[in-house]
Amino acid sequence: MDLKNLRIDGKRLRSTLEEMARIGATPGGGVQRLTLTDEDKQARDLFVRWLKELDLKVTIDEMGNIFGRRPGRSSDLAPVMSGSHIDSQPKGGRFDGILGVMGALEVLRTLHDHGIETERPIDIVDWTNEEGSRFAPAMVSSGVWAGALERDWAYDRTDIEGKRFEDELIRIGYKGDAPAKKWPVHAYYEYHIEQGPILEREGKTIGAPKGIVCLHWYDVYLEGEANQVGPTPMEGRHDALCATAEMILKVEELPARMGGNMVATVGEIQNYPNSRNIIPDKVHFTVDIRSWDDELALDAWDKLRGDLETIARRRGCPIRIEETWRVQHSPFDEKLVQRVLDNAEALGYPSLHMVSGAGHDASYMNQVAPTAMIFVPSIGGRSHVEVEKTSWEDCEAGANVLLHCILQSANEGGRP
Ligand code: GLV
Ligand code: MN
Ligand code: MN
Repeated sequence: MDLKNLRIDGKRLRSTLEEMARIGATPGGGVQRLTLTDEDKQARDLFVRWLKELDLKVTIDEMGNIFGRRPGRSSDLAPVMSGSHIDSQPKGGRFDGILGVMGALEVLRTLHDHGIETERPIDIVDWTNEEGSRFAPAMVSSGVWAGALERDWAYDRTDIEGKRFEDELIRIGYKGDAPAKKWPVHAYYEYHIEQGPILEREGKTIGAPKGIVCLHWYDVYLEGEANQVGPTPMEGRHDALCATAEMILKVEELPARMGGNMVATVGEIQNYPNSRNIIPDKVHFTVDIRSWDDELALDAWDKLRGDLETIARRRGCPIRIEETWRVQHSPFDEKLVQRVLDNAEALGYPSLHMVSGAGHDASYMNQVAPTAMIFVPSIGGRSHVEVEKTSWEDCEAGANVLLHCILQSANEGGRP
């Protein structure tokens, strides 16, 4: 058959996504499949079963990353790799991450159905803990695999209950034997929902990001003085939560103050003892700063840090700050990005060259291999929420673009 006419099976992709969405389904129509929980294990087990049905060679590494290899005619050539993540946010959506893994699976099933061989092997991957919601930071296992993060540091990350990453990995039975260590990859494609409003607003079906913004994560710990709220006068209090309130507004003001392309967010907060009639004496909160301009984001942090320390001093609340994680902005391989745009055009889908404001494992993969992503629209620009949705037609369109990108890269540079 003329490979140009090859298409994935949109109905099968939909039913695969629907089956996965039942694992960790929430009453509000989303999923809660936090990394290394029982739901994550259940989804992994199903994924591995599906990989085995295609006779793929399954490898699980010491970070719990799951790879499935489809051989090529030349097994000595570097493979093409594609995938994303199975884990979700708490009360997350049914498309973030899983679309990229099931999209790549649908591509492999399509090649299998038609008995199509490629020159290079193809690796499908599920990266452990992309979200970083249970164990910070995000994208930690692609980071270790790429050599950018330390495995033992990752193992020691703890969740809010003090459970260790490595212990949870062992508990769900996904601490594999293979080293989490990069191998040569010819091209990496990650298929994902946009998670923002631009494609829908512009009326485009396919987004080809030129890269991903930088992501900088910080953890702030404040101490105050607890006391009975009734008899304690307002003057002289050291209220850690009031200090935090002032600090959060400084974070919100930061992008406007820096005058550049930036977003800054406090998304997580723990207040202790969290009783309505005790003055709070301990707070932990997070800061997330993103920009295409790494220097601007670092400069913003310097200014913010100064502000936080000033507020803490004035309010008599000792402060401790951890610079938890930084990943630089990640400009993708121009040739592969162009390939995404060209395939969209050849398939008749309107497309857009854009920037990814969301973090993806593609950031770390971009340090290892030529990398590109394929985006499809998020309805209403909503993501990391239960109502996250992408139309089934758009899911199919993105997977068709992925199919042709993978095919072209997998047939490149073979034996003459
Ligand atoms: C990843 O989900 C991110 O925070 O962008
Ligand atoms: Mn994602
Ligand atoms: Mn996400």
